[in-house]
Amino acid sequence: MMITLDIIYLIATITFIYGLKLLGHPETAKKGNLIASLGMGLAIIGTIFLHNLIIPTFVYSLIIAAIAVGSVIGWLMAVKVQMTKMPELVSLFNGFGGASATIIGLVEFGKNIGNASQTATTMAAIIIGSLTFSGSVVAWGKLNGRMKSLIRLPKYNLINNLVILGLIIFATYFVMSASNSQMLLYLLLIGALIYGVLFVIPIGGADMPVVISLLNSLTGIAAAITGVLYSNMVMIVGGILVGSAGLILTFAMCKAMNRSISNVVFGAFGSSNAAVGDGSQSEKGDIRSTTISDVAILMNYSQRVIIVPGYGLAVAQAQHAIHELEQLLESRGVQVKYAIHPVAGRMPGHMNVLLAESNVSYDKLAEMDDVNPEFKNTDVVFVVGANDVVNPAAHNDASSPIFGMPILEVADAKQIIVNKRSMNPGYAGIENELFYNPKTSMLFGDAKKCIQELINEVKNM
Ligand code: TAP
Repeated sequence: MMITLDIIYLIATITFIYGLKLLGHPETAKKGNLIASLGMGLAIIGTIFLHNLIIPTFVYSLIIAAIAVGSVIGWLMAVKVQMTKMPELVSLFNGFGGASATIIGLVEFGKNIGNASQTATTMAAIIIGSLTFSGSVVAWGKLNGRMKSLIRLPKYNLINNLVILGLIIFATYFVMSASNSQMLLYLLLIGALIYGVLFVIPIGGADMPVVISLLNSLTGIAAAITGVLYSNMVMIVGGILVGSAGLILTFAMCKAMNRSISNVVFGAFGSSNAAVGDGSQSEKGDIRSTTISDVAILMNYSQRVIIVPGYGLAVAQAQHAIHELEQLLESRGVQVKYAIHPVAGRMPGHMNVLLAESNVSYDKLAEMDDVNPEFKNTDVVFVVGANDVVNPAAHNDASSPIFGMPILEVADAKQIIVNKRSMNPGYAGIENELFYNPKTSMLFGDAKKCIQELINEVKNM
């Protein structure tokens, strides 16, 4: 029995690694996800039926009922979620992973009193699992707007560091004293839950994806630790893969924003209410608005057009329309490509996934570093629902919260058309001087509606 189970675990481990590899490209990502999920399903079923569990039959029924209910809820949530709400869902699922590790730690506590390494592992599972759980719930609340205001305690960094230090001392006491006090255990649990909240609360909105990725990585570490508790190879490998993939993603996002991880975690970036323009005029100059027919003429008679998609394109669900416009322009001899900023939208790879949905060819997607030198030879840049990722303040304004973040250098192009609904700011809550650039014309309106009108106009030419 156990040999069969070991083989199942080995197969599951291989599916995780292979699945993760396939996740590296949008074309194979879906398949990778499916393969890794099947491996996980196999490991769960194998554990239930082949592990020497000495439990009454009705407990089996409870386990199967819990799996059925959980699967239906998870499936419904995943099917129903809008693309733009994906980070919230990831955050919530993350939290459940942390909660599971905590529950395992609580169940296992007391079974190995006197065994210092087992107790230390249990403590680590409880602390990391519960801070991941509460931190993820706060991140979920902040992303979906349920937690609007940032309650920031003065000297929050100092307070946070003291709390985590207290937790480490507390856990060390458990290990050294071989205490089996349930009351102290629950105090430790509450302390870790509070730390999770304190850790995420001061972090600004624009940094939430980085934090979610970091929490995701911590969930993986917590899962690997619980794997150590049970000497379960598949839990250890699965946890390490999630932990390391989460860390790699965290650092990749920091690099894309030109920020350090400590600046993200301790800097409270993006939580200030930066000044925002209120109308069509500012000391920076005038805003020029343009019309559908002018933009259609401009694009139709251009040689090279670069589309810069942003969060607004996803909100408007204009991915099919933009693909149709791209194909139409190409059929008129215009060379079209998309410039993809690594943090455009609200989650890593958001624009790639969105455009893949409408079958935009991957050859048409150009990454920031490759496309930036091309803007100067571009007739028209069409910025659709993007704002922060094209904001020159990242270069010009040392006081800006996005200062230092690499941007798409659209100002180098001959003409810039910006499509958005108003002069409202983007995610970072700051004004964008690109809109006042003499080469820029604003096409106000919902992205999908505007692009559809543009298509009709170009067709009539
Ligand atoms: P944003 O800076 O958020 O700007 C999006 C713009 O889209 C807004 O200014 C909005 O202006 C416009 N918009 C909204 N709905 C629209 C619609 N229906 N039609 C047309 N326009 C619409 O987006 P971005 O340039 O993609 O930058 C992403 C930002 O999010 C960055 O600050 C990034 O750090 C942050 N962030 C990124 C991620 C990841 S990993 N991708 C995750 C979380 C946060 P109007 O309201 O005037 O229309």
